[in-house]
Amino acid sequence: MFNFIQSLEKFKLPFFSTFDICLDLGTSNTRIAIKDKGKVLNEPTYVGVNTSSKEYIFFGSEAKTILGKTPEFIKIIRPVINGVISDFDAQVALLHKFLQRSVKVYFKNFTLIKPQLRAIASVPYSATEIEQKALEEVLFKVGFSSTYLVEKPIATAIGAGVNIFYHHPHLLIDIGGGLVELSIVSGGGIVAERTIKNAGDSLNHTLANYVYLKYGIILGETTCEHLKIYLLNFRGENRAFTVRGKSLEDGLPKSVRIKSSDVKEALYSNISQIFDGVKELIEVSPPEVVDEIYERGITLTGGLANVEGIDNFLSDELKIDVVVASDPDDAVIRGLLKLSNNYQDLVKLSIPKI
Ligand SMILES: Nc1ncnc2c1ncn2[C@@H]1O[C@H](COP(=O)(O)OP(=O)(O)OP(=O)(O)O)[C@@H](O)[C@H]1O
Ligand SMILES: [Mg+2]
Repeated sequence: MFNFIQSLEKFKLPFFSTFDICLDLGTSNTRIAIKDKGKVLNEPTYVGVNTSSKEYIFFGSEAKTILGKTPEFIKIIRPVINGVISDFDAQVALLHKFLQRSVKVYFKNFTLIKPQLRAIASVPYSATEIEQKALEEVLFKVGFSSTYLVEKPIATAIGAGVNIFYHHPHLLIDIGGGLVELSIVSGGGIVAERTIKNAGDSLNHTLANYVYLKYGIILGETTCEHLKIYLLNFRGENRAFTVRGKSLEDGLPKSVRIKSSDVKEALYSNISQIFDGVKELIEVSPPEVVDEIYERGITLTGGLANVEGIDNFLSDELKIDVVVASDPDDAVIRGLLKLSNNYQDLVKLSIPKI
């Protein structure tokens, strides 16, 4: 039966066509792309639930915008933590809505027969079999008829323009919202990998603690993220921004002026974990690999790769050239899209079914 349908697909009969949908379900942002069309959605991985009626009512940007401002009966959930699904039902609700917004509209002309959707999704290298299974379950639940899971470092490398099948090792650092993934890829696989579960989101929390201790005010998560994005830079620019939070002394609003130097000081120890991770990765790699890595340098991807001057900062500390990939936030989804155009590579590089 399967072969029969596959052979019909070759004739491009619309009724039997399978459409490839690429999904990067990140801790901070969800990215969805359609083969031959490109990226169709990029939204925060946040969902709002009415705790009385158990209904999911806010999705993506709208849920993130109201974080910290909702009445008690509305809870904002982040269904992906450290790159893996932590709330199954919330993730199903969120992905269902995202697919309706971005993918289902694209297939709205298929009124008689539902198109077969095949998922090509990234999964962290550190995800356990159970976590991989949970992702597959979510994908089936939202309507996919088959799934391919690709380890994130492989997708990142392809998206950053690396020829994954060459026997030239590449070191990649993806700094996202929930994970820092350090990997060396070569010859169609991952030679070595280190994951640090202390990425962009943790930086927001660390900054909140710092401001609390130094200035005696309590700031919300979103404010801390804005401060980090606006103030953090490694170009030596000392910008400043005045924020209002809740005073520790009397609970009343209090304004303080936060500077880039504060943010750097607060986040230095978190960021230095990346140096330690890279050093550890290099230590466990064979000497030939290390030699080539020093020659080729490091490619940086993920949201934190947008921090101005981070390439030079890492490069100075590690004594290796560091290059930021173009559109670093989209490296994973771009890699999955490229794979969707090459079925043989997709089969070779995806995680074998358990
Ligand atoms: N210009 C910037 N400066 C500092 N941080 C930034 C900037 N742009 C994005 N970020 C941070 O990058 C993180 C999001 O990155 P990204 O979209 O790559 O994460 P993700 O793919 O959802 O997470 P993960 O891959 O870890 O599961 C957030 O913490 C966000 O605050
Ligand atoms: Mg990511």
